[in-house]
Amino acid sequence: MKDKIVFISGASSGIGEATARRFAKEGAILLLCARNMEKLHSLKGELEKEYGAKVYVYELDVRDKKAIDEVFENIPKELRNIDILVNNAGLAQGLEKVQEGVPEEFDVVIDTNIKGLLYLTRKIVPTMIENQKGHVINMGSVAGIHAYPGGTIYCATKAAVKFISDGLRMDIVHTPIRVTNIQPGIVETNFSVIRFHGDKERAAKVYEGIKPLTPEDIADIVLYTASVPDHVQICEVTVTATHQATGGVVYKK
Ligand SMILES: NC(=O)c1ccc[n+]([C@@H]2O[C@H](COP(=O)([O-])OP(=O)(O)OC[C@H]3O[C@@H](n4cnc5c(N)ncnc54)[C@H](OP(=O)(O)O)[C@@H]3O)[C@@H](O)[C@H]2O)c1
Repeated sequence: MKDKIVFISGASSGIGEATARRFAKEGAILLLCARNMEKLHSLKGELEKEYGAKVYVYELDVRDKKAIDEVFENIPKELRNIDILVNNAGLAQGLEKVQEGVPEEFDVVIDTNIKGLLYLTRKIVPTMIENQKGHVINMGSVAGIHAYPGGTIYCATKAAVKFISDGLRMDIVHTPIRVTNIQPGIVETNFSVIRFHGDKERAAKVYEGIKPLTPEDIADIVLYTASVPDHVQICEVTVTATHQATGGVVYKK
């Protein structure tokens, strides 16, 4: 990973943050984006101090196509040859049934998880093709394999991530670029706090009675998929906590 250029969306928290840390430890050059610049600056400081890493941070809402263009103009020219794109930014909103849900929240989830991922992919993959090297790692979810009650919109977006990954793999099959879809089950991050609009008590209940995955578990897997020899493409990884069978089937003590 030494001096590989790694772009991570949603690096201010959870899985994205842990992935940034993991790649920094391996000597990668990091291009990190999210909306929360305070958290990104603090992570940059930590990674520079801890690993002597080269870290560049960018304020970005992945739903904003124009902002993506602007971020790219601000990336130093010699670092625009991105080796690894980790499309990680994403979220869920609420657990309402479709007929009771908030349409504006449908927009936020669909625009972030599907369109944001597509915009970044569209922006970065052409240069990967030009350079004949690259790896797109998408953060899907077990939610994209089986729907669960109250998760309809989120599950649909993660099913889209699976099919965008499969389709992109076909689109660039003639190139050396790899596409990986990582599908985690329950990971303890800020995800549930965001889902429940800041209700920490309700969020904590999601992780009660089960030992969930950690963001570091997923970061290790991201790194592994990026570290296998060039002729090996890990298309999909599905990983759950031991007491989770699918998105909706969890054994709790
Ligand atoms: N936690 C789980 O159980 C789990 C399971 C399977 C898959 N996942 C997926 O893993 C990914 C990371 O989630 P997490 O669990 O690490 O949650 P998290 O701790 O809430 O982190 C989510 C990250 O996404 C960023 N983000 C959200 N909306 C964004 C936007 N419009 N533009 C740019 N960045 C945005 C957030 O940054 P800002 O708020 O600073 O913008 C944050 O850095 C998501 O795609 C999620 O669907 C999570």
